[in-house]
Amino acid sequence: MATKVPVGVLGATGAVGQKFIKLLENHPWFELTEVAASDRSAGKKYKEAATWRQYTPIPDSIKDKTVKPCEPGLDCQLVFSGLDSSIAGEVEENFARAGYLVLSNSKNHRMDTDVPLLVPDVNPDHLGLIKTQRQQRGWKGAIVTNPNCSTAGLVLPLAALYRTLGVRRVIVTTMQALSGAGYPGHSAIDMLGNVIPYISSEEDKVETEPLKILGALRDGAIQQADFRVSAHTNRVFVEDGHTECVSIELDKKASPAEVASIFAGYKSVPQEMKLPSAPERPIIVTEERDRPQPKFDREAGGGMSAVVGRIRECPVFDIRFVVLSHNTVRGAAGAAILNAELMQQVDY
Ligand SMILES: NC(=O)c1ccc[n+]([C@@H]2O[C@H](COP(=O)([O-])OP(=O)(O)OC[C@H]3O[C@@H](n4cnc5c(N)ncnc54)[C@H](OP(=O)(O)O)[C@@H]3O)[C@@H](O)[C@H]2O)c1
Repeated sequence: MATKVPVGVLGATGAVGQKFIKLLENHPWFELTEVAASDRSAGKKYKEAATWRQYTPIPDSIKDKTVKPCEPGLDCQLVFSGLDSSIAGEVEENFARAGYLVLSNSKNHRMDTDVPLLVPDVNPDHLGLIKTQRQQRGWKGAIVTNPNCSTAGLVLPLAALYRTLGVRRVIVTTMQALSGAGYPGHSAIDMLGNVIPYISSEEDKVETEPLKILGALRDGAIQQADFRVSAHTNRVFVEDGHTECVSIELDKKASPAEVASIFAGYKSVPQEMKLPSAPERPIIVTEERDRPQPKFDREAGGGMSAVVGRIRECPVFDIRFVVLSHNTVRGAAGAAILNAELMQQVDY
């Protein structure tokens, strides 16, 4: 692209906001021109407002930028949102109404019937919902969402199986990283030597979002996929990377080797289009018996690949495996950036 597209980040000081800043540094198509956050941060220089928790320094182009309030008037037409869900719904609507494209990480609008819950490797055609959204709401802009961080990793292998063998029932147990709860999240004393078997409203998201993502767009609406998901979600003492143990009942039986081959061969539109954030392989199959592990596998494909291992028969359902994905990259900022890249390349 000859000229880069100016973009902003709402919630730029938070865990997801910081990941946006890191991933947008040196992006070939987008230039981060605006950072915005709450009244606590607005008016301060970014380096004073944010408790920076990335392993590389704050980009020079951002550290002295003044944080703005999350109100339309930002000098860009596309904003990424890493806003706290307590305010994201209303703020994102204000931006879309004012003509901005809003790429949101928050739960607020994900299940709205006229808002795409987009995973470019799975349902790029769902961008067609924007037409419905603009007709119904009279907006010049639009809201496009990406899934919950656990759904994001799960839905890649699920899509590969749903479209080849058919899926009837899914049981998934998650082991979710601390960074998924934002910064500072749980206290160390609560987490050390511990597992917390409850994450507020997470199970509902993991049970419902895949059905919308794998649904079919017909006549401007999504007809949801008709399988069922049962989720157990847990917070564990891991910094980044969500691990999920999955058992699936299939329509058409298949051996572990056949399932591994379906996963390894899965490619989609972002790979064909060579979008800058698209991993070469959305699903990487590991054959080592004790992998994937968050410490070693979360950066696979630049944090955008789901790593699947331990594919074996299930004595209750048909097939079981472990999937790992990076919760703030594929599960948050990287997903929204991939959505924006797709939107630069297709009509909607
Ligand atoms: N962490 C993950 O792995 C993950 C994955 C997927 C989706 N998400 C979702 O992404 C969103 C952000 O999560 P996070 O983990 O980054 O949270 P976080 O670290 O708590 O950051 C929240 C951000 O929202 C801003 N904010 C809070 N109240 C505000 C207000 N009243 N007006 C304007 N800005 C306000 C904060 O600004 P100040 O610093 O100024 O307070 C901060 O920039 C949430 O909706 C979360 O559910 C998170």
